[in-house]
Amino acid sequence: MPRIVEKEVLAPGIKKFVVEHPLIARKRQPGQFVILRVHEKGERFPLTIADSDPERGTVTIVVQEVGRSTMELGLKEAGENILDFVGPLGKPTPIEKYGNVVCIGGGVGVAEILPVASALKQAGNHVVGIIGARTRELLIFEEEMRQACHELIVCTDDGTYGVHGFVTSPLKEMIERGDTIDHVFCIGPVLMMRAVAELTRGPAIPTSVSLNPIMVDGTGMCGACRVTVGGVTKFACVDGPDFDAHEVDFDLLIKRLQQYRDEEKISLELFKKKLGNMAVESSQAVAN
Ligand SMILES: Cc1cc2nc3c(=O)[nH]c(=O)nc-3n(C[C@H](O)[C@H](O)[C@H](O)COP(=O)(O)OP(=O)(O)OC[C@H]3O[C@@H](n4cnc5c(N)ncnc54)[C@H](O)[C@@H]3O)c2cc1C
Ligand code: FES
Repeated sequence: MPRIVEKEVLAPGIKKFVVEHPLIARKRQPGQFVILRVHEKGERFPLTIADSDPERGTVTIVVQEVGRSTMELGLKEAGENILDFVGPLGKPTPIEKYGNVVCIGGGVGVAEILPVASALKQAGNHVVGIIGARTRELLIFEEEMRQACHELIVCTDDGTYGVHGFVTSPLKEMIERGDTIDHVFCIGPVLMMRAVAELTRGPAIPTSVSLNPIMVDGTGMCGACRVTVGGVTKFACVDGPDFDAHEVDFDLLIKRLQQYRDEEKISLELFKKKLGNMAVESSQAVAN
């Protein structure tokens, strides 16, 4: 079982884990992900590989706690194991010499765009990064992105740091200024990716988004990750996760992401109750 060798809290509810897995560390390429299961009764869920160290044999993942499974992972500590850790999955992001590229990351998507920006810079592109978070304390990997890009623009929705507004504002300015943009890569919340796609559609700037539908097996067999791209059904786990943003049916993706919302809510409530009971039991044990 893969062992967690490092854990770091990057921001409230966002944690970084460095996990021992020499095979994945050697093989993985930017844009690929793992599917993991924390314990025997846990669900399988995907996380992007944010980094790897082939010499040390480690893989870095960054998780935002949004529900039961991500919280269960968040409770793990260095020295503990993760039951299943399968990858690298998905097609790598095509790293070529495009010219001037813009790499956009929102929220935990900053961790996911980082390896892409870094690889594009190494491939000889001029890389402008635009990263955003709801508020300053939720911003992650700013320094790492500064290293990975030639220029970095930071935005916060509430204006507590950097540009006040969404990541789309600086992109809009660049487009209106007539800056040469040969390709845009974007990873983040679906609404953000859709807004970026709408901005680049008019000027026909090639734009790639990394889609995040619900995944189960990650091998193209279960069909859970169905997305519609260019009117054709694709399986994001094997045909993606990167797709042409101008071809993606975002409305359908949003609908499918919400289909288990009630069950997810119940599962989270039950888990929080269990955590609460455990906390009471352990404080009683200390008192005794
Ligand atoms: C290719 C890919 C890469 C991803 N990379 C990252 C990453 O690097 N860091 C990160 O924090 N998150 C990432 N995600 C999202 C992450 O998988 C979900 O946040 C996680 O599965 C939520 O599970 P939960 O039980 O904690 O929450 P739940 O309460 O079950 O769900 C919360 C929301 O998460 C989504 N979700 C639920 N189950 C799944 C599932 N099995 N697969 C995908 N989405 C699901 C749904 O939108 C749901 O409404 C990625 C998703 C995909 C598809
Ligand atoms: S996750 Fe099962 S087909 Fe993609």
